[in-house]
Amino acid sequence: MRHLLNPLDFSVEEITRLLDLAGDIEHNLPKYAHVCDGKKLATLFYEPSTRTRLSFEAAMLNLGGSVLGFASADSSSAAKGESVADTIRIISCYADICAMRHPKEGAPLVASQFSSIPVINAGDGGHQHPTQTLTDLLTIRNLKGRLDNLTVGLCGDLKFGRTVHSLIEALVRYTGIRFVLISPQELKVPGYIRTDVLDKNHVEYKEVDNLDEAMPELDILYMTRVQKERFFNEEDYIRLKDSYILDRQKMKLAKEDMYVLHPLPRVNEISVEVDKDPRAAYFRQAQYGVYARMALIMTLLEVEKPC
Ligand code: CP
Repeated sequence: MRHLLNPLDFSVEEITRLLDLAGDIEHNLPKYAHVCDGKKLATLFYEPSTRTRLSFEAAMLNLGGSVLGFASADSSSAAKGESVADTIRIISCYADICAMRHPKEGAPLVASQFSSIPVINAGDGGHQHPTQTLTDLLTIRNLKGRLDNLTVGLCGDLKFGRTVHSLIEALVRYTGIRFVLISPQELKVPGYIRTDVLDKNHVEYKEVDNLDEAMPELDILYMTRVQKERFFNEEDYIRLKDSYILDRQKMKLAKEDMYVLHPLPRVNEISVEVDKDPRAAYFRQAQYGVYARMALIMTLLEVEKPC
């Protein structure tokens, strides 16, 4: 039995197979309509979500399976003090696979240690969000035709943005990847990402605070929201929340074949006027999330690809 807790839980070859499967699903959706008949997915969400929870549920329904779960800690027995370990023991009796989002870093890892079904980390605190990364990789590969030899700009809250941490960890395994890390001083990537991921893998990167200057060199711009829920002090959040606003003027500085991604939800960091730009790919990205999660469910449940 396998879990997905961190993007590195899959090798590059396994990721390639999973993205290939997601691509086949995208183009042949009806073929997959019954591959998970009789299987159940539990979504255990201790934190708010729109895309991740609902795309997981859509994914399982598209595969012919069923879904159950809770959308907030308040509507589960966590509100009465039940531990993650006890909850997952129970869920293992009710479902075949589960996706868990939790505000505490490492909670899905703890769940995996007490689980008899595959556990998928659907976001743990400011740590990791590996299924967003699968979505991001699928999106980049579909848009650019490759996952190597790219200059990727990551902009916004690089400190608390778990999607950023997971994406960096996944992309450093491809050749010719350069990062431009664009953030205010207080929201730079955590030290362990610099030392244990970027430096250790001899990846080229620079840390800057000016988005305009970075725009012309980027192949991908990955915008992120300032993560209000991770701040201890509201004054700091208010001071930093509008550090970057991508608008039509800034888009004029970018290459014609540069694409803008965002894990969403957005607040102010991308002006709605950018939505009409053909390089704005964040809504397509959310659609790809369904295919990536369908492929992931099939992979972890060891479901054969239909002929
Ligand atoms: N991208 C993402 O995780 O969105 P949700 O918080 O809506 O799930």
